[in-house]
Amino acid sequence: MEPAEMKRIVAERAVDMYVKDGMNVGLGTGSTAYFAIKRIGELVADGFDLTCVATSVQSEDLARECGIKVVELDQVDKLDVTIDGADEVDPKMQLIKGLGGALLREKIVAAATVREIIIADSSKRVGKLGTKAPLPVEVLRFGHEHTRFALKRQGCEPVLRMRDGEPFVTDGGNYIYDCRFPEGIDNPFFLESRIDVIPGVVENGLFLNTAYDVLICEEDGSVTSVAEAENRES
Ligand code: 5RP
Repeated sequence: MEPAEMKRIVAERAVDMYVKDGMNVGLGTGSTAYFAIKRIGELVADGFDLTCVATSVQSEDLARECGIKVVELDQVDKLDVTIDGADEVDPKMQLIKGLGGALLREKIVAAATVREIIIADSSKRVGKLGTKAPLPVEVLRFGHEHTRFALKRQGCEPVLRMRDGEPFVTDGGNYIYDCRFPEGIDNPFFLESRIDVIPGVVENGLFLNTAYDVLICEEDGSVTSVAEAENRES
């Protein structure tokens, strides 16, 4: 099955499981979240009254095109549910996010969310974080080379993310270093505590103990949900 088809299937399943009329909903960023936003647009067209907060300018633009009401995060007390993608998912539902460049807003939105729902195709599943994807770290532009040296001391190879020959600039106006750990990440909690105290680091792409459910679409089009397998209510 084509990856885009797997993304569509899992995104639509997650929206149909978790988004109910009247909810405040967080909109993720990326090629999988794209399909979730499209599906949410269909629900709105069918009469659902949803108030949504976007994790990026790109998702906000798409949501408005789909007729979805988008507000600032500070206009809501909390979000009932957020549906977002991930770059890696480990067996304990720990995540790497941020290859789409929206990790800072995604983490702020996740923190304001009761149920963070992660959607992915099966290629995102890993035994250990950091084995396929680099860890994105958003840093201030000021003194970013010094921040890079401090990141490197954590055992990784940080590479400044580029776009069209220029450093990629996030919606928050910052740079991103993609940090490749040659052996993967042995202790993500310890690593996060080390990265977070580096001056110049704005946010890192480890999303630990954040997901309420992870839905994954397999090659044959079937979808697994951790919460469903555990008989948790959706
Ligand atoms: C953006 C993200 C995305 O959720 C992540 O990169 C997955 O994207 P895609 O669904 O396109 O594979 O974290 O910052």
